[in-house]
This record gives sequence, structure tokens and C-alpha cells, in this order.
Amino acid sequence: MKEVVDRWSSRRAFILAVTGAAVGLGNIWRFPYVAGENGGALFFLLYVFFVLAMGLPVMIAEIMIGRAGRRPPIQALAALAQERGRSAKWSWVAGFGLLTVFLVLSFYSVVSGWSIEYLSSTVQGKFAGASAENISHALDVFLANPWLVVLNHSLFMLLTMAVVAKGVSSGLERLNNWLMPLLYLLLVVLVIYAATTPGFGEALKWLFSPKFEELTPLVVVNALGHAFFTLAIGACALMAYGAYMPEDQSLVKAVVIVAVLDVLVAVLSGVAIFSVVFSHHLDPTSGPGLMFVALPIAFSAMPFGIPLLGAFFLLLLFATWTSSINLAEPMVASISTGRLSRPVAALIVGLCVWAAGLLPALSFSTLANVRPIAGMTFFDLVTSVPPDIFLPLGGLMIAWFAASVLDPEKAAGALGVGTSGFRLWLRITRYVAIPLVVLVLLSALVPKLI
Ligand code: PHE
Repeated sequence: MKEVVDRWSSRRAFILAVTGAAVGLGNIWRFPYVAGENGGALFFLLYVFFVLAMGLPVMIAEIMIGRAGRRPPIQALAALAQERGRSAKWSWVAGFGLLTVFLVLSFYSVVSGWSIEYLSSTVQGKFAGASAENISHALDVFLANPWLVVLNHSLFMLLTMAVVAKGVSSGLERLNNWLMPLLYLLLVVLVIYAATTPGFGEALKWLFSPKFEELTPLVVVNALGHAFFTLAIGACALMAYGAYMPEDQSLVKAVVIVAVLDVLVAVLSGVAIFSVVFSHHLDPTSGPGLMFVALPIAFSAMPFGIPLLGAFFLLLLFATWTSSINLAEPMVASISTGRLSRPVAALIVGLCVWAAGLLPALSFSTLANVRPIAGMTFFDLVTSVPPDIFLPLGGLMIAWFAASVLDPEKAAGALGVGTSGFRLWLRITRYVAIPLVVLVLLSALVPKLI
């Protein structure tokens, strides 16, 4: 396959696209509830450490491969490996990445569908004056309705595939320019409001003062998985975006900006949500429904709260849309290389992911009692195994490829910070990032083996 000629229209557009991929449900929905289940501050500390020590080098590796290969992930890995006289089987790493994005998108679309439902409930005034009990009851009632959950999941899949069918480097850019900053602004407003609530102090303590005695291998693995999930790395999704990266852009700068914004959004939404949790004596370990209960409670108690809640769900939906487009892109790009046109590829991928999404979608109703492994529903399984295990494993292989298979000259060229910068990245990747990922994954598996 020939190299792609599409490019993001500017350097800014590339940063926006990668930020769009990174910032999404991971920061606003997943971070608070996974932190809640893992004791708060210790999880947060580990997550930030993993973003710095492993996330950044792996993110660089992933985009670097895309940029050096200038093809969709499967074809890029095969071509780059063969150039170095290595086996084209390296493309299996991308195959594994595609499996991961497939699984992640299947639940991502379902949960983004919950935001569509919440947007419509807010517009209909259902949260105006509602009590905390009514709000948490409303979530259970909604999730128990299989038709409504599937309808919203279907709508979201349509939204995603409509953009991917056209090609991602055109389209979303202008919206991205406006809506993402608005989302950050609204989160800041929410945190300012949270500072006036009685639970604020406790929320800060819960998020920022770690109890080291609570350290377990599970907390470490969850923090690692979350770091990869929220940065959108380990599944070749950013690799697909790297293929369209302009020639004259600094990769390191882009990656640092994205990581800072990503952590910032998680901190803001964590502070806001845990302030509500502690002000209203909610349970921080209550799981995936946490955000959908906490935010309506917070907003409905604020001045202009209901319009702001509507704006929030709209912006959240936008943030999840830009992430799901990134999740779909590597699948669609990889199969629309030959006779298959992009729209047809998008249709096929969309239908398959939609069908797979029915399992997590129905996990709270029709399939609530189907628990294939360890008492977990399909929703529990697909929201934990691909992010926590598959992404770090994929990231490990991607980093390995970039550090030891990819032509060093090409890699240095794609990194674009000169030879000494390249050597520094190589050392950090070889001696810090790769061994740490191996260690954490082993620590998760070994206790289970014994
Ligand atoms: N980073 C996205 C989020 O935080 C999710 C994602 C994971 C996107 C993996 C692409 C690849 O919501």
C-alpha cells in the first residue's frame, strides 16, 4: 500500500485532534469511579506517575510509528518491519490493537449513549428540583430499560461513523477549536462551585493525600491501565492519527501539551465529583454510575444549574465523540485500503461494533444475570479487561517495536528533536517504560498464578 498523502491542516489541528482523542469519558466518567473504587489519592498519584514515566514515551513511540509509516497501523507496521528485514508478522501488534479498539468502542458508545439520554432528560427538565435519591433512582430506571439504552447507543454509533466515513482529517476541526475550551471552562465553573460545598475539603484530601498502606497490585494495574486509556495509547489509535501528522511539527511538544490537558481535565472533574459525593454522603465506590448521579445533583443545586447541566452533557458528548472517532479510525483506515471504500468500511465496522455493544448495553437489564467470568457482567468485563490489560500489553509491544525494530534514523526523523533527544527517548523507553510495564503486568498475573 502507498503512503497516505492526507495531512492535518495545521500543527494546531493535530494537537486538537490528539487532545480530542485523549479527553473523553476516560477523564470525566471513568477516572472518578475507578479512583473511587481504588481508594482515591494513591490511585491518582500512581496514575500521574504512569502518565509521565510510561505514558509519554509510549505515546511518542506510537505517533512516531504512524508518522514514519504514513499508512494505517497494520500496513505501517508490516512495511516498517520489512524495510528492516524483519517479519511482516509485526503487523499482528496492530491486529491486537484493532481488537482492543473494537472492544473499547463497543462500551464507549454505550456509555456515550447514556450522555445522550441525560442531555435529553435535562432539556425536558427532569432534573429540575429533583432530590439526590430521585436522581440516583432515575439512573437505575434508565439502565433497566433495554430499548432506551440500545436506542442511545445506536444514535451515538451513527454519529461516530458519519464522521469516520468521510475521513477524519477534514470536518471536526473547527468545532474542536471551540467546544473543547468551553468544556474546560465549564469544569472550572463546576470546581469553583464545588469549593463552596461542605464536601470540598474532604474531596481534596481523598484525591491528594495518599494512604500508602492501601497499596495493592490491583491498584497499581488499574492506575496503569487508566493512564493508557485516558491518553488513548496502546491500541494503535493514535498511530492512525500520526500518519496524517504534518512534517514540520514537534512530536514531543504536542505530546506534552496533550498529557497536561488530559490530567488537568481528570483533576477538575475528580474534584468536582468527589465534592458532591462527600457533600451528599454518596458512596465513592458505587461504580460506573457515579458521574451520572453526582453531576445532576451538583448542577441542580447551583444557580442556572439546569441550563449548565444541559451544556455540560452537550460538551461531554462532543468530547466523547472526538474520542470515539479516534477509536474507529484505525479499524476503518486499515480495511479501506483496497477495493473497499471508506464509507463501506465505516458501515461494516459500525455494524459490527454496534452488535458487540449490545452485550454491555443489556448488562443492566436483559443480560444482568449473565456473568461469564468471575461473577462479572459483560459490561464489567469489557470496561476493565481491554483498558487495564490489553492497552498496556499493546503499548508494550508498540514501544518495543519503536525502540528496537524501527529504523533508528527514520525514528529520529519522525521524532524531530535531533540525535540527543532521540537517544534520551530511546533510553527512557528501553530502561524505564518497557521494564515498568512488564513489572506491573506481571505483578497482576503472578498473585493469580500462585
Ligand atoms: N482516551 C479516551 C478517553 O479518555 C478513550 C480512548 C482509549 C480513545 C483508547 C482512543 C483509544 O475517553
